[in-house]
Amino acid sequence: MSASIRLKSLTRDFDVSKPWLNRVIERLPRATLRAVDDVSLEIPENSVYALVGESGSGKSTIGRIVAGLVPASSGVVEVNGIDIVSTGAEQAAEARRNLQMIFQDPYASLNPRWKVRDIIAEPVAIRGVATDGLAERLLEQVGLSAADAGKFPHEFSGGQRQRICIARALASHPRIIICDEPTSALDVSVQSQVLNLMSDLREEMGLTYLFISHDLTVVQHMADRIGVLYLGALVEEAPRDRLFAEPKHPYTQMLFAAAPRMDAFGREVEPPKGEIPDAINPPPGCHYHPRCPLATDLCRSVVPETRRIGATRVRCHHAE
Ligand SMILES: Nc1ncnc2c1ncn2[C@@H]1O[C@H](COP(=O)(O)OP(=O)(O)O)[C@@H](O)[C@H]1O
Ligand SMILES: [Mg+2]
Repeated sequence: MSASIRLKSLTRDFDVSKPWLNRVIERLPRATLRAVDDVSLEIPENSVYALVGESGSGKSTIGRIVAGLVPASSGVVEVNGIDIVSTGAEQAAEARRNLQMIFQDPYASLNPRWKVRDIIAEPVAIRGVATDGLAERLLEQVGLSAADAGKFPHEFSGGQRQRICIARALASHPRIIICDEPTSALDVSVQSQVLNLMSDLREEMGLTYLFISHDLTVVQHMADRIGVLYLGALVEEAPRDRLFAEPKHPYTQMLFAAAPRMDAFGREVEPPKGEIPDAINPPPGCHYHPRCPLATDLCRSVVPETRRIGATRVRCHHAE
């Protein structure tokens, strides 16, 4: 069976109005925040799609919508060709069986009172399927030992806990894994080990990843395709090598410049420029124009369409 994801014009608004009484007294209108803004993308089977962008750009919301933890406001979310937004609950649940999510914080996502064996086997046990030896096998697969099954989460380091989360995610034989900043809470020295494990598992098992990160350097070795989000909108998308060789959107270029680089004195150079604007009242035209060195009157008034330039899709009036 194919294991793919397709998003079409996905949009999610959050009502961020003050409570009714405040609105009446302070004469405030309702306020809406567009966390995901008309996002379309495709993740073919057995590939890694990385979504990158600064904090608040809508990465987690997209991941949570695909995982079914948050409803979409509009648009299409297809998992294995089934539109899980408009289909019946039963069919959507069936499609989502192929899909698991790994979260950022391996401390918060493991129940401290449960033994590792039960944590890992739960997604399978819940369906009434026998789980003998399952946790032990999976622990070895993620680089831990079978004997760890009898321990509790507090006996493990952050990196080991994330391995346990990965083992749990694999227990139900998913075809697609959504990884929301899976290594951001880990020490830098441990990050690459966990990333390597995830790469190896993908190859062994032919998995499809939606990999969410705020850090382009983290996705550099994993991703086949990279989408760059800004204020909920996909501003650029390209095959990994294309994006790294020739970032076309000024925001992508800024992200590359902002990736920690040291000068000869060991100081960081070129920190990110400017603040992310208020998502409740985004600037008119291209949302990036207040931070953009190329901004013109056109950018200040007209929202750019997505254009194709070679293998890149980019939403910028001046990209070429
Ligand atoms: N439940 C919610 N209610 C209101 N606003 C939300 C909610 N969840 C997310 N947001 C807002 O949506 C935007 C995108 O958030 P998020 O998807 O978490 O971004 P990221 O993962 O890229 O940091 C942010 O402005 C955030 O404050
Ligand atoms: Mg997030």
